[in-house]
Amino acid sequence: MGDINVLSVLMRWLHISGAVVAVGGSVFALIALLPAMRGLSDEIRSDLHEAIRKRFAMLFMISVTALLVSGFYNYLLNEIPQHKGDGLYHGLMGAKILLAFVVFFLGSALVGRAAAFEGIRRRRKRWMTVNILLALIIIALAALLRAMPNTT
Ligand code: HEM
Repeated sequence: MGDINVLSVLMRWLHISGAVVAVGGSVFALIALLPAMRGLSDEIRSDLHEAIRKRFAMLFMISVTALLVSGFYNYLLNEIPQHKGDGLYHGLMGAKILLAFVVFFLGSALVGRAAAFEGIRRRRKRWMTVNILLALIIIALAALLRAMPNTT
């Protein structure tokens, strides 16, 4: 037990929890919630949608903050020192971070109310599907990165 870095364990927990909540919530909304709402009247559907949107927007933003804080903590303090000179590791990590920013942008546009992103919300199903697929690629990259050996 003596060698365990408690802060790193907590940050790993935060990272995985953020991913589970943001990605799990989006999969639930796409596969269960949206189709189930189709049978409702326009008025009930729009009231329900607004009530859910407000709550999920808050949860999504908390998850994004958790992913950013824990992700950069882990990368800068743990992974950079352990993968010095490993271009492939850092290239794949760069791709993971870039894709994460796309996921954060699309997710924020979908749960937000900015007029500029109304076009994205009008094609909600398409962009939610794209975002979930991107998140699955990010998780695959994370699994690959974890399997790469340390250089130091
Ligand atoms: C949609 C956003 C994201 C998702 C779904 C996600 C998911 C994951 C998952 C599932 C892991 C594996 C955890 C483990 O085995 O301990 C992981 C690892 C990691 N993530 Fe993320 N992540 C996201 C965004 C970010 C961001 C923005 C950063 C910023 C630097 C980041 C940095 C890292 C690092 C450094 C690791 C450890 C890699 C290794 O084991 O070598 N992630 N991520």
